[in-house]
Amino acid sequence: MYASLISIGAYVPNEIRTNQWFADRMDTTDEWITKRTGISTRRISKKDELASDMGAEASRLAISRANMTIDDIDMIICATISPDYYCMPSTACVIADKLGRKNIMAMDISAACTGFVYALSVARAFIESGTKQNVLIVGSEKATQLMDYDDRTICPLFGDGAGAAVISATDDKTDAIVDINCSSDGGLQELLLTPGIGSGEKQYMQMKGNETFKVAVRTLTNDVKMILAKNNLTTKDIDHFVPHQANYRILKAVGENLGFDDSQKVITVHKYGNTSSASIPMAINDIYESGRLKQGDTLLLDAFGGGLTWGSAVLNFAGKTIDK
Ligand code: UT7
Repeated sequence: MYASLISIGAYVPNEIRTNQWFADRMDTTDEWITKRTGISTRRISKKDELASDMGAEASRLAISRANMTIDDIDMIICATISPDYYCMPSTACVIADKLGRKNIMAMDISAACTGFVYALSVARAFIESGTKQNVLIVGSEKATQLMDYDDRTICPLFGDGAGAAVISATDDKTDAIVDINCSSDGGLQELLLTPGIGSGEKQYMQMKGNETFKVAVRTLTNDVKMILAKNNLTTKDIDHFVPHQANYRILKAVGENLGFDDSQKVITVHKYGNTSSASIPMAINDIYESGRLKQGDTLLLDAFGGGLTWGSAVLNFAGKTIDK
C-alpha cells in the first residue's frame, strides 16, 4: 500500500495588509521590508476567525476536490503554531467538529513552519501501515496574533491563512509519495521561539533573524541535496520546487545553490508573507488553481522552522488537473 496526495485546498483571508501599514505605525519603510524580505502584502484574518475556521475552510475545499465527504476521512492532523486553545483541545479536534465529524482520530503537530511536511510524513506512515485510508492534513495559522507590534524586526514578516490536503491509500506506485525526510536540532531552539505560560513573558514570537537566515539557507539547500541523491534524482526531475515561504532572499539563495530555474520555483512570499505551517500547502494550492500544477507532476517540498525543524518531501501530484 502506498500513500498519495490526491487533493489540495487553501483559505486566504480577504484583508490585505500593505507594508505602508507598518511604515505608518513604526520605524520602518516599504522599501526596507520589500528589499530585505520580498514581502509586499500579507493577509489578516478577521478578529473572530481562528486557526480552526481557516483550517476548516481549506479542508472543505481539499475534501470536495478529492470527490469525498468528511465521512470518508479517517484521521485529521493539523499543524499550527497559533492554535485556538493552549495545548487542549487540539485545533484538529475543533476542525473535526466544524466539519461535522465525530469519532475520528484527530491531533495537532508542533513542528512550526515544517509542520505540514511533518504531518505529511505521519499521514504516510499511518496509510502505509494499513491503519488509515484517507488522512486530512492541515496547516493553519493566525500567526499575526503572535506578533509584538512594538517589534519591527518580526511583525511585518508574518501573515494568516490555511492549506489542506487529502492523503489517500493507493496500490498505484506512480501516484505514491516518493520520500520524506524530517529532522530537528533542539540545540538551536533559541533562534526562533514563542515563550510559554510560566515564562513571565508575553506569548509573542521572537526570532534571531539574521542567524536564522543563515541556518535556513544552509539547511534548506542540504536537505534538498540529500533527498535528491537518496532517490537518484536531479533538479531536472522536479516540476515544482515548493520551499517554505519565509523570505525571498532565502528562496533566491537556495534556488541558486541548487540550480532550479524560475519556471520550477514556486514563490508566494510577496503576497502572503510567512504563513508558517500553511505556507507550503497555500503555495501548492496557488499553482493548482492557476493550472500550473498538473496531474502526475513531481513536487519537491522543502521546509524549515522553529525547533529548529526541517523537512523535505518528493511526491507526485495524484489529484486531477483543474479545469481552466
Ligand atoms: O519561518 C521560519 C524561518 N524564518 C526565517 O528563515 C527568517 C529568517 N530571517 C530573515 O528573513 C531576515 O533575517 C530578516 C528579514 C528577519 C531580517 O533581515 P536581515 O537582513 O537579516 O536584517 P538584520 O536582522 O541583520 O538587521 C539589519 C538592520 C538592523 O539595524 P542595525 O542594527 O544594522 O542598525 C535592524 O535593527 O535592520 C534593522 N531592522 C529594520 N529596519 C527597518 C530590522 N527590522 C527592520 C524593519 N525596518 N522592519
